Amino acid sequence: MVVKPAPAAPPLPALAVRPAHVAIIMDGNGRWATSHALSRSDGHRAGAQAIRPVIERLGEHGVGVLTLFGFSTENWGRPRTEVETILKLGAEFIDTYTDELNRNGVRLQHLGDPARLPGWLRRRVQKAVDRTAGNDRMIVNLAFNYGGRADIVQSVARLLAEGARPEEITEEAISTHLATAGLPDVDLLIRTGGEHRVSNFLVWQATYAELYFTEVFWPDFDAAQVDAALVEFARRNRRFGLVPTTSVEDAGTAE
Ligand code: FPP
Repeated sequence: MVVKPAPAAPPLPALAVRPAHVAIIMDGNGRWATSHALSRSDGHRAGAQAIRPVIERLGEHGVGVLTLFGFSTENWGRPRTEVETILKLGAEFIDTYTDELNRNGVRLQHLGDPARLPGWLRRRVQKAVDRTAGNDRMIVNLAFNYGGRADIVQSVARLLAEGARPEEITEEAISTHLATAGLPDVDLLIRTGGEHRVSNFLVWQATYAELYFTEVFWPDFDAAQVDAALVEFARRNRRFGLVPTTSVEDAGTAE
């Protein structure tokens, strides 16, 4: 993969609060390509190149977990050549950046069912996961063949396989059997490319996430865009279904 030199990043804005877990739907590669008279493959390539500076910037902000939607369970329905391009770019990303991410304390993890991934990608993912397993500065989850509903189904299936009784199928039990077990819920869900949808991403984990939609196509999402999303997050008033007062009379008007 050709490594584009990243333009100098703007000074880091101070934030009163920051998300522990950021998830990103990297949308708009195809439209970015069309707007530059390039092929969809070129768009995905540019999209893959946009990832590293975003990881770096989120790391500078002290974000502990980043989950990237690389390939959804629905994406298998795209033309075969496009599917191959995206999966190959995933493998190339791992080949190009695992060493550097490892040196910088990043732990790579995979979310999604590996069974349907081609062996060459599965092996690379596993190698990168094993290689970076001891790191604790930041976790980067690569969601490949991931679907939010499938994640919930497999969590419940695991619980049942463990012999859980109906009363043991609790929210906590489901959470601890999801692909993201042990990680905080998503605080900030970013979707680039102008669509306002969650598209079967981390549907359970993002229940109380702040949603940030931007018109910017993913290949143009850079350090300044990361800053803008985090500044907006810090402005939001998160209530988690409660009210912003401690008054007992006012309680009970959950949204
Ligand atoms: C959405 O754009 C993007 C994808 C379905 C694939 C994202 C993949 C990458 C950025 C490359 C490899 C990934 C990793 C994690 C290394 P779209 O094709 O739906 O764009 P459009 O809506 O403009 O057509």
